[in-house]
Amino acid sequence: MHRLVTFVAGTVVGGGAIYALTSMPRGQPTPIRTPAMPQQQQQQQQQLPVRAPPVQLRQLVSEGDNTNNEFLKYGNPGPVSDFLLRSRYAASFNRALRNPNWVAEHLTQDNLKGTADRSSSEFKEDPLVPAQFRALLKDYYRSGYDRGHMCPAADAKKDSDSMNETFFLTNISPQVGKGFNRNYWASLETFVRDLTKSFDDVYCISGPLYLPQKEGDKWMVSYEVIGNPPNVAVPTHFFKVIMAKRNNEPGFAIGAFALPNKEIDNATPLTTFSLPLEAIEKAAGLQFFDKIERKAGVVTPLCAKTECKLNHDSWKKKKPNGE
Ligand SMILES: *[C@@H]1O[C@H](CO)[C@@H](O)[C@H](O)[C@H]1NC(C)=O
Repeated sequence: MHRLVTFVAGTVVGGGAIYALTSMPRGQPTPIRTPAMPQQQQQQQQQLPVRAPPVQLRQLVSEGDNTNNEFLKYGNPGPVSDFLLRSRYAASFNRALRNPNWVAEHLTQDNLKGTADRSSSEFKEDPLVPAQFRALLKDYYRSGYDRGHMCPAADAKKDSDSMNETFFLTNISPQVGKGFNRNYWASLETFVRDLTKSFDDVYCISGPLYLPQKEGDKWMVSYEVIGNPPNVAVPTHFFKVIMAKRNNEPGFAIGAFALPNKEIDNATPLTTFSLPLEAIEKAAGLQFFDKIERKAGVVTPLCAKTECKLNHDSWKKKKPNGE
């Protein structure tokens, strides 16, 4: 049953793009299997913990901090990302693709309150990114794409500073406007906000994907790059990974969705785009909520806890200009 659902979702999402991941059972860590290895080695490999590497290893992952060695004496070619901590989100920005890698939010009924209005905010190039790696306003100009928020402006009504921060281009990716950013994606953003009505805490991570598509007998990644000279990659898909919890209940509800960057018919159920967390992790090269033990009894599928249904009326009034 789950396999079928996953397969269908994978097919719709990427034309089979999330190919290697379709037979993975939900809620299970990715098994490591390498049939070509000698048996003894293979056993060792299988005994390795799949998640949670030792703390020392994890710390080495921070590229920027590790310049005190002979190899980097004359310079560190990385980091390839910029980390941005803002009032309403944390983000990792990809210097080569000039898109966020991910943008993380925490939503509660309280922290969504406020009166800041998007009409007084303007999109801005992010001064915290080195100039040569910045996404530029002129890249988007007449590109045909909307400047799509990863952390939505409407999640930052707290004050106009917070709202302004969501308009930095480090929180923005090129999105198809009509039928996606202005419609289906906007409804998904509303869905995430509305989860705070029935859960105390909602954590949401959003970001782009560049998924391989079958061309002839090969898998190819193909994406447009906007700007002149070309500068900002246009993702093929976008993900939202959502974790919701209640104070009076143990455990976590987790849902993961990957949507194609194209017009989506409002009649398409949200569950069509639901995927195992591991599928999006593999495709994005990210780990989501890895401090939560991923097993039944701890993690429940979000769509089993709440109806995963979008209300497409909500954006009609709110997003006249689409971005
Ligand atoms: C937010 O941005 C607008 C437009 O750039 C600006 O006029 C306003 O002063 C900004 N607000 C804050 C609090 O910086």
